[in-house]
Parts: sequence; structure tokens; C-alpha cells
Amino acid sequence: MRTAAVLVLAAPLLIAAGPPPGASSCSGCHGAVVAGGIPPIAGRPATELTAAMRGFRDGSRKATLMDRLMKGFSDAEITAIAAFWANPS
Ligand code: HEC
Repeated sequence: MRTAAVLVLAAPLLIAAGPPPGASSCSGCHGAVVAGGIPPIAGRPATELTAAMRGFRDGSRKATLMDRLMKGFSDAEITAIAAFWANPS
């Protein structure tokens, strides 16, 4: 009984494999190499990406546009996007 409940709860996570909502939009600006002064994000540690994204959102990290972009993301979304870009598949 307990096992079944765990499987049911875990199912959406398994189905959601691949880019989480919002993550695909990042690659338009963040390519594999630095372009237009925009650093790549793929393969960077999730903790680093999360800190940068939260900093943009709360205004503690200076930005020209990431501050506005990040205002639309929740903590859970930022965590999921950071995890994806740390190890994109
Ligand atoms: C329209 C272009 C654009 C899009 C789309 C975009 N970014 Fe950015 N990103 C930038 C720019 C420009 C900077 C430099 C900071 C600034 O001026 O806003 C930046 C900086 C960053 C940084 C800090 C990198 C560093 O080393 O300082 C992170 C992390 C980041 N973006 C993550 C993301 C994520 C995650 C997404 C998708 C949800 C995303 N960006 C979408 C343009 C973009």
C-alpha cells in the first residue's frame, strides 16, 4: 500500500523528465559560448545558477534584463531550471 502511494506520487516527476517549464527559453540567449557578453549556463553548478537567478529576482544582483525575467519564476521553478541547466539532457 505504502509503495503504491510512493509510486503514484513519483509518477509526475518521471513524466516531467526533460526541460522544466521555462528552461527552453534560456538557450536563445545563453548559448554554448559567450555571445554578446552573455555567459553560457549549461553545465554550471546548480547552486551557482540558483544563487544568480534568485539574486536577479530580488534585485541584489545587477542586471539589464535577467532581473525582469526572473520576477516571473517561483523558487520551485528556479530550482528545477537550475537543476536542468547544470546537467542538460
Ligand atoms: C533575452 C536574453 C536572455 C534570456 C532569454 C535569458 N537570459 Fe540569462 N542573462 C542574459 C543577460 C543579458 C545576462 C547578464 C545579466 C543582465 O544584464 O541581465 C544574463 C545572465 C544570466 C545568469 C548569470 C550568469 C553569470 O555568470 O553571471 C544566469 C545564471 C542566467 N542568466 C540564467 C538564465 C536562465 C536560467 C534563463 C532561462 C529561464 C535565462 N537566463 C534566460 C540574457 C538572457
